[in-house]
Amino acid sequence: MFTGLVFLAVIIGSIIFHVWTPWWWTDIASNWSAMDDTIILSFWIGGGVFILVCLFMVYCIFRYQYKEGRRSEYKPEDKKLEKGLTWLTTIGVVALLAPGLVVWNNYIRVPDNAIQVEVMAWQWGWKYRLPGQDGKLGESNNRIISDDNPYGLNIDDPNGKDDVFVESNELHLLKDRPVKILLRSIDVLHNFYVPQFRSKMDAVPGTITYYWFEPNKNGEYEVLCAEYCGVAHYAMRGKVVVEDEVSYNKWLSEQETFSSFTAKNRNNKLNKKKLVKINNLSNNKNSILKEQDVR
Ligand code: CUA
Repeated sequence: MFTGLVFLAVIIGSIIFHVWTPWWWTDIASNWSAMDDTIILSFWIGGGVFILVCLFMVYCIFRYQYKEGRRSEYKPEDKKLEKGLTWLTTIGVVALLAPGLVVWNNYIRVPDNAIQVEVMAWQWGWKYRLPGQDGKLGESNNRIISDDNPYGLNIDDPNGKDDVFVESNELHLLKDRPVKILLRSIDVLHNFYVPQFRSKMDAVPGTITYYWFEPNKNGEYEVLCAEYCGVAHYAMRGKVVVEDEVSYNKWLSEQETFSSFTAKNRNNKLNKKKLVKINNLSNNKNSILKEQDVR
């Protein structure tokens, strides 16, 4: 009797908590309302089964409580009941899985007008690469990453020359324009996740994974890493700014391209070489530079 009442309190409490919950997902800012719909459907199926099973238990506790002289009935098989339960479970499981397959199919079928954005994950931070005027990203490979080539671009690929480097954790995106996110990792598993966009996927070292979404609300959003990746996993944050074309183009024009990066690097190296030469000359006793104290 008492147990039955406790069970009943658990059911009612769960429903009340669901209605007045302080924890709910943040407002959506992308096209993926289908993700929310599938979660809500799973919730109704899971929640419905939970309530039915608990109510059945409460019923049994009251209906079959101990009575002097009552014997239990032995019923090894009930074809009708088994059939009903099998069908019900089948429908429930299909309803849980099938919508997800449809959404997944759309999730990886990228629209033609999507802008490609490469997300480079590393321990512990993010940087990005965008295609230049040609709209194409140059070929890349983690094996050739170096100080001179931080994204490991194939220098013979003409598509890569105008690629835009964003060596910061802040990415800007155009409102109402689909983006194809291409994920790379240079060390371990990471996961690029902006809760408001609902979309996420693992970045796997040695391969490129992808998905798409369309941001549809201007604003600043926080990027989180959603795959445990070491001691500073919690600090692996970034920022995505969704904005209109004018501000987006301004931001884009302030970023560096692969060609300008290489040129700058080359100049830096030349300057370093010059300095070394001057130092060597001035250290030489017979040097004119030494006499004149030129540096
Ligand atoms: Cu990167 Cu967790």
